Amino acid sequence: MMLSSDHAATVRATIPAVAAHGAEITGEFYDAMFAAHPELLHLFNRGNQANGEQRRALAGAVAAFAQHLVSEESAAPFQQMLSRIAHKHASLGIRPEQYTVVGRHLLEAVAKVLGDAVTPEVHAAWSEVYWLFATLLIAEEARLYQDAGCSAGAAYRTWRVVDRVDEAEDVVSLVLEPADGGKVPAHRPGQYVSVAVTLPDGLRQPRQYTLSRAAGNGVLQITVRRVRAEDASPAGAVSTFLHEAVRPGDELEMSAPFGDVVMEDDGDPLVLISAGIGITPAAAMIDHVAAGRPGRRVLAVHADRSVRTHALRAQIAEAGARIPGFRQITWYEDLDGAGNDADADVRPGRVDVAALPLPPKARVFMCGPIPFMRAVRRGLIEAGVSEERVHYEVFGPDLWNGAA
Ligand SMILES: Cc1cc2nc3c(=O)[nH]c(=O)nc-3n(C[C@H](O)[C@H](O)[C@H](O)COP(=O)(O)OP(=O)(O)OC[C@H]3O[C@@H](n4cnc5c(N)ncnc54)[C@H](O)[C@@H]3O)c2cc1C
Ligand code: HEM
Repeated sequence: MMLSSDHAATVRATIPAVAAHGAEITGEFYDAMFAAHPELLHLFNRGNQANGEQRRALAGAVAAFAQHLVSEESAAPFQQMLSRIAHKHASLGIRPEQYTVVGRHLLEAVAKVLGDAVTPEVHAAWSEVYWLFATLLIAEEARLYQDAGCSAGAAYRTWRVVDRVDEAEDVVSLVLEPADGGKVPAHRPGQYVSVAVTLPDGLRQPRQYTLSRAAGNGVLQITVRRVRAEDASPAGAVSTFLHEAVRPGDELEMSAPFGDVVMEDDGDPLVLISAGIGITPAAAMIDHVAAGRPGRRVLAVHADRSVRTHALRAQIAEAGARIPGFRQITWYEDLDGAGNDADADVRPGRVDVAALPLPPKARVFMCGPIPFMRAVRRGLIEAGVSEERVHYEVFGPDLWNGAA
């Protein structure tokens, strides 16, 4: 993938200006695009618009792609970013023709924010950057839709809630089966679905939820933490709706499973490190090992506020009991009430990576808030784990991109 040579020099010269104004450009872009296409408000996450995370993610991706095009550096970090975006887009049913709309508004926003600096030459060079990126994403998304057996933009089906389980304080699992009588799609441990709901104010909003059990039992399960209002942050729109309004018998729009942070069946020892609701991918992985390869060694490390907020504890204990090489270490900020189970290895405070009995050649999967994962990753690397064996999932736009 290359820029035409006359455009490469222009892009190289203007990357600093575009990167420096990235969030301003994408802010302008979203405002103009939503004004011209209000129907797209039903597609984008209103929370990520309000807290600015989506505009930073888009700006970061475009700047990283431009940098990748004009530098000699390895393509690996870019491939990882591309794959993540394509999976997210596919779960949302993004269609190729929508790239024309986004491209027009994004390039107009660059022109508006940078003003006279955007000569026809600069415009043409950045248009090429955009369309190279778009082409890669469209191709990858087409492949994902095909693998999932759905056409572009038709990722959603109607599912019926067959069970609702209180897992912990403010956490419920919803168990779903297809309402259309169709088949339950296969998924790999670590994958997620997009769930789209129509909120009381009429706005449709999609969110991603990890499938918290292994595939193969005729249903899908998601596990949702209710995001409570806190200081200046309002309560989460979709998680509150799912907690308050969804009961067995209700129907939900849900996409096919997507997501590229998945466990391979290679037999390497697994180390799963999670915090809070980040336990959902670990729960699916443990369930998958118990069902298919119980000979695999698994170290499950979890951090939570207390035993009361610790979700999927019973499911993981049941699956772990079927894996002879399963070990679990849990850290609670508040140990109150955690002393009932004599077998459990429960410790106070925060995860101490240096204290972990890390098996050699382990595959590590992390999921939790970015500062938590950053600290854990540093500890793992200090303990000699190689970087390419550490995988992570972010429960929001990826504003980390793996960097220390
Ligand atoms: C790949 C992936 C997998 C995931 N898996 C799970 C899972 O298994 N379980 C799970 O529970 N979640 C999971 N999530 C997170 C989930 O998708 C939602 O982000 C989460 O449920 C919150 O959605 P919400 O609509 O309730 O909150 P939102 O309404 O989206 O709010 C999110 C945050 O933004 C803040 N915010 C919203 N509006 C404003 C405003 N106007 N001003 C300031 N701040 C604002 C809110 O206070 C809140 O802190 C996953 C996410 C991803 C990307
Ligand atoms: C080259 C073009 C595009 C780029 C570089 C791009 C980039 C991104 C990035 C970086 C994310 C965040 C991914 C993450 O979760 O980490 C994202 C999410 C998203 N994109 Fe795109 N995108 C492009 C085109 C489009 C198009 C054409 C649409 C459809 C109109 C679209 C709709 C969305 C939506 C709805 C999300 C999720 C938003 C959220 O959760 O807040 N994108 N995109």
